Amino acid sequence: MPNILEARDLAKYFGGVRALDGVTISVPERSIVGLIGPNGSGKTTLFNVVTGFYEPTRGEVLLKNNSGSMERIDGLNPNEVFLKGVVRTFQVPRLFTSLTVLENVLVTPPVQIGEKVLDAPFKSRWEKQERELAKKAVGLLKKFGMEKYVYSRITELSVAHIKLLETIRGLMTSAKLYLLDEPAAGVDYGVARELFNYIRGLREEGLTFLIVEHRLDVLMDYVDYVYVLHNGKLLSEGKPSEVVNDPKVIEAYIGG
Ligand SMILES: Nc1ncnc2c1ncn2[C@@H]1O[C@H](COP(=O)(O)OP(=O)(O)O)[C@@H](O)[C@H]1O
Ligand SMILES: [Mg+2]
Repeated sequence: MPNILEARDLAKYFGGVRALDGVTISVPERSIVGLIGPNGSGKTTLFNVVTGFYEPTRGEVLLKNNSGSMERIDGLNPNEVFLKGVVRTFQVPRLFTSLTVLENVLVTPPVQIGEKVLDAPFKSRWEKQERELAKKAVGLLKKFGMEKYVYSRITELSVAHIKLLETIRGLMTSAKLYLLDEPAAGVDYGVARELFNYIRGLREEGLTFLIVEHRLDVLMDYVDYVYVLHNGKLLSEGKPSEVVNDPKVIEAYIGG
């Protein structure tokens, strides 16, 4: 498969801190790629640079556009990157605390028909779509054990459920490439596997995923390829079985 995303020699410095320092990665279309590494190795920073939250200090980010060529997206702002078809979730969830669980899931997709000014007066056009989205949202909440909380407020949720909700919200948003930052953090093992099974199903439908995850026991069963960051640089890369047996990787995880 051709690449949908490429980062070339990507660097991001914060003063003297080299959060990313010359990282090159490729994400093929219709793949699930893992991005792992000890705390502080630069994973979230890479997401922030790819999705326009930070400008890189050096390097390029390229995304496959609709005509099939690779187009530079570094320098675009987060909304522009989103409109190109890239959705990301946050390691620390960003939810609307005044809204219910269901409302949080439904508020995201920005191109819902009802929000287009010209279509808004024609209620019948968007009512059906709203109902379908709500049905899909409830289905996902149920699948991940959150059916009890559909009408709860965010403040009533556990940390694990808040994390799941952040991911469900991202997955409800149409995109071609999803960047998920630790979707299984704190989530029960069984539910985490449900989540990754669902992600695998979306991949079969043609979507692409770059996933940061600490839960290697779950992640490694689902990814096609893994990149390992350490101190802002690529330490290793390969198929899951190659990476988990790489002495450099084992050392980095044990050494912290
Ligand atoms: N906005 C920032 N300002 C200063 N330093 C930052 C900022 N964001 C990240 N860092 C630093 O960059 C390094 C990588 O952080 P991060 O990308 O969050 O790592 P990871 O997600 O792999 O745990 C850390 O040393 C972190 O403290
Ligand atoms: Mg992080």
